[in-house]
Amino acid sequence: MRHDHVLTAKQFSREAIEAVLDRAAEFADGTREPRHADALLGLLFFEPSTRTKMSFETAAKRLGGDTIDMGAVDSSSVTKGESLADTVRVIEGYADALVLRHPKQGSAKMASEFVSIPVINAGDGAGHHPTQTLLDLYTIQENAGLDDLSIGVMGDLKYGRTVHSLAHALTNFDTTQHFISPESLALPPEVRYDLDEAGTPVEEHTELEFVLPDLDVLYVTRIQRERFPDENEYRAVASEYGIDLGTLAEAKSDLSIMHPLPRVDEIDPAIDETPHATYFEQAHNGVPVRMALLDMLL
Ligand code: NCD
Repeated sequence: MRHDHVLTAKQFSREAIEAVLDRAAEFADGTREPRHADALLGLLFFEPSTRTKMSFETAAKRLGGDTIDMGAVDSSSVTKGESLADTVRVIEGYADALVLRHPKQGSAKMASEFVSIPVINAGDGAGHHPTQTLLDLYTIQENAGLDDLSIGVMGDLKYGRTVHSLAHALTNFDTTQHFISPESLALPPEVRYDLDEAGTPVEEHTELEFVLPDLDVLYVTRIQRERFPDENEYRAVASEYGIDLGTLAEAKSDLSIMHPLPRVDEIDPAIDETPHATYFEQAHNGVPVRMALLDMLL
């Protein structure tokens, strides 16, 4: 993986995923020594971020390196009309790798064509979010195992980039994928096509109720308000597809509930106190997983 770009989860083989997760486990339990004291990671976030940006910063610093941050778009030369291609060519001269989040789908791929340092896609619009997927896989492996798994992915499957990346990556494992959403937010046809090509068992549902008892993992997502072309369309689906303690009556006792966060009101906070709640552990796993990824890329 050394010096590779990380653009989509489609590029991950089972071997590559296992190598990252194994190394992440070594960073998590302290058996691997941090290195890369001189590494500098460039952070270019053109969209809001808490976990992704802060866990990349934490990972770089825990490895002994550091970060340089473009900061808010408003205070950068982007407001003067600078193109993304020019911005990344400049940062290439400062940093050893760069992490890019941008509202435009395909932006990370485009940026990668202008620089020779690794470009890590931290979310390109409604496209992909491959490093979120690595920490999701790490969390699934710890709680349910990646093979012989039945996972339900619920919410905004159309605009949710974490969903698209996770769905692709799970085709490397013996997993049945259930997708639960209103019809208007179903999985994009191109993602469904890729899953069918990979021979992964896929079922699409509009209700959670009937499939819930089969699930080992339920991955809940936020309706991506910022991606809706029309606010009324958002409002029509906004409060559907939430879960509370009542919803879980028919769930397996060891069902693991995940969410990439931030949540709005998809998961009732009462669930936080149950053994099902895995989402904060999932967010914390971002640090060892991103340490492992940076360690391999640099
Ligand atoms: C997600 C994202 O930005 O795609 N957040 C994250 O990185 N953990 C999910 C979301 O915004 O709903």
